[in-house]
Amino acid sequence: MNANLRDEALSYFASFSPGHEANLHAYFSPGRVNLIGEHLDYNGGYVFPTALTLGTLLLVAPRNDRRVRFASTTFAQVHEVSLDDLSYQKDHDYANYPIGVLAAFQDRGFELQGMDILFASDLPAGSGLSSSASIEVGTALAVNDIFQCGLAMRELVIMAQQVENQFIGVSCGIMDQFAVGMGKKDHAMLLDCETLAVSYHPLTDPDYVFVIANTNYPRKLSESKYNERREECDRSFAILRDHFPDARALAHIPMEAWPEVESLLKDATLIKRTRHVLFEQARTKASATYLQAGDYRAFGEAMNASHRSLQDDFEVTGYALDALAESASLVEGCLGSRMTGAGFGGCTVSLVHKQKVADFERLVAKRYQDLTGLSASFYLTSLGQGAKRVEL
Ligand code: GLA
Repeated sequence: MNANLRDEALSYFASFSPGHEANLHAYFSPGRVNLIGEHLDYNGGYVFPTALTLGTLLLVAPRNDRRVRFASTTFAQVHEVSLDDLSYQKDHDYANYPIGVLAAFQDRGFELQGMDILFASDLPAGSGLSSSASIEVGTALAVNDIFQCGLAMRELVIMAQQVENQFIGVSCGIMDQFAVGMGKKDHAMLLDCETLAVSYHPLTDPDYVFVIANTNYPRKLSESKYNERREECDRSFAILRDHFPDARALAHIPMEAWPEVESLLKDATLIKRTRHVLFEQARTKASATYLQAGDYRAFGEAMNASHRSLQDDFEVTGYALDALAESASLVEGCLGSRMTGAGFGGCTVSLVHKQKVADFERLVAKRYQDLTGLSASFYLTSLGQGAKRVEL
């Protein structure tokens, strides 16, 4: 955890909740970046994310009453609720995430007490690096630990996804919460989103790094468009399932069956969405073997192909993400670049030679600005550990 983040959090906490220093619990919950395998988790496919060293630090002081107060170093307003009234309210803003988590614990019969909770984050909010999953899983871990609920991390991860689906109303898959909770330092994880079987792949090549770049383009309509893509995939699967009895989800239909799939679907939009899912699934599985073989060039090509598919077929990129990915792919030493996360704005991830990172940032920033008038930000982050309790 970053020492500046810790110092900032401690000094903020001292004024937010004075006198609790002796009884303070601390947890660090990372963000995540998905290297490849986009919009596959809710289609029962494989994804290939990693947890980051950027994330959310939670400082928590238990109280003797049933009030819960939330503060954040990012958002000025303090929110306060009672454990006896944990409902979703629009003006609770980001606090709805932890409120949903508290409600989920109570719904499962756990007895909680009041708390003062501070969230301090070095993760850009709403940029496709899972700041919300970071808050949800971090809160679940804190509550589980402080009130000795005895749930395993996997159960906390699933609970956090249910909060997002049912309390917040976003029909996301399991990838973000899983990566945040189950990440392993210096490893990417190939996750089967149907069974939650996971294999960890070391990423410690001395020559190549993943660079994250933020479009700083405000995400618009991202939740409704996300839910729309999910529905389109469900419609495709409803048409195809009888023809592919071995497939329990859309991503299980093999890429080799494409000509038949195309003729069955007929509808132009469903054809495009499904083509993305089937080919992205094949690329994702292949990418894990490329990494294992140290074939970074092939991995980079798969990243480029993934971006094009998300641009042309799944249609979740937009001009800012396209300009950023295209600017990156023109830089010498960059093997591949793609949008990461849900899309509609947010970040790209690029595979770049270590010695070229400074050039990469300078050239991409310039070209992106020329194309869009926007200025990109870059994050030098490493692959971190999943959410955990920390000593301050
Ligand atoms: C968001 C969702 C994830 C996943 C990605 C797209 O991050 O929360 O569940 O669907 O988009 O891959």
